[in-house]
Amino acid sequence: MARVAIVTGGTRGIGEAISLALQEQGVLVAANYGGNDAKARAFSERTGIKSYKWDVSDYDACQKGVELVEAELGPVDIVVNNAGITRDGTILKMSYQDWKDVIDTNLGGCFNMAKATFPGMRARQWGRIVNIGSINGQAGQYGQVNYAAAKSGIHGFTKALAQEGAKAGVTVNAIAPGYIDTEMVAAVPQDVLAKIVAKVPVGRLGMAQEIARGVAFLCAEDAGFVTGSTLSINGGQHMY
Ligand SMILES: NC(=O)c1ccc[n+]([C@@H]2O[C@H](COP(=O)([O-])OP(=O)(O)OC[C@H]3O[C@@H](n4cnc5c(N)ncnc54)[C@H](OP(=O)(O)O)[C@@H]3O)[C@@H](O)[C@H]2O)c1
Repeated sequence: MARVAIVTGGTRGIGEAISLALQEQGVLVAANYGGNDAKARAFSERTGIKSYKWDVSDYDACQKGVELVEAELGPVDIVVNNAGITRDGTILKMSYQDWKDVIDTNLGGCFNMAKATFPGMRARQWGRIVNIGSINGQAGQYGQVNYAAAKSGIHGFTKALAQEGAKAGVTVNAIAPGYIDTEMVAAVPQDVLAKIVAKVPVGRLGMAQEIARGVAFLCAEDAGFVTGSTLSINGGQHMY
């Protein structure tokens, strides 16, 4: 029987590439999204992958969302915590809400999804959890105390949960992407982006498919000895 995966934020950007890479690997994928119905509908029509709307920052919504996926597709073996947002600004300008929204979505979403799926994986003695962190969680970034804290938290969360899953066949890993050519990065002003690209040794933005390739590896049947690791995919921008 095919493995079942949930990819949060799986209908566009990096998440779309991850959904497709897992599908190509023979996995039955459920792509979660937060609010953009039009993109989700177009994605599902294009790929045949079912999309499911719920807010990953909402604990109860994650429980219910996972229940629905399990009823329709079967027990969840793989979770890719990819949903993420930015609310950038220096701390002088950042509101409490900007802080809370980013922490609750980017980091809280990982907790909520793990609470809904980890017990089942553990009981069935097989699971894969991949959390999408960021180079900015490793190195920090001006104007992103909320995002850097959430992503840095993801790296700690990954190493702690990996220890809890290890004896039960559940691996937990993170990927720390550098700057990838998606709508999130398109929102960065052109002059700022040019300065960022100038610091990437490979000399370009990354592609969503390059992150998806790493996720597909970490979710594979034969990746069971890889756990608690953070895979940097950043064009050499930050060698950690
Ligand atoms: N792009 C980069 O350069 C880069 C670099 C490092 C790390 N990352 C990380 O990689 C991940 C994907 O980034 P991206 O650039 O592909 O982002 P994106 O294009 O903005 O897509 C974000 C996805 O997350 C979903 N989402 C946002 N908030 C949600 C919520 N509360 N509940 C459920 N889904 C939610 C969105 O759903 P809707 O479509 O419904 O809005 C969308 O599918 C993020 O975690 C990001 O922090 C990105």
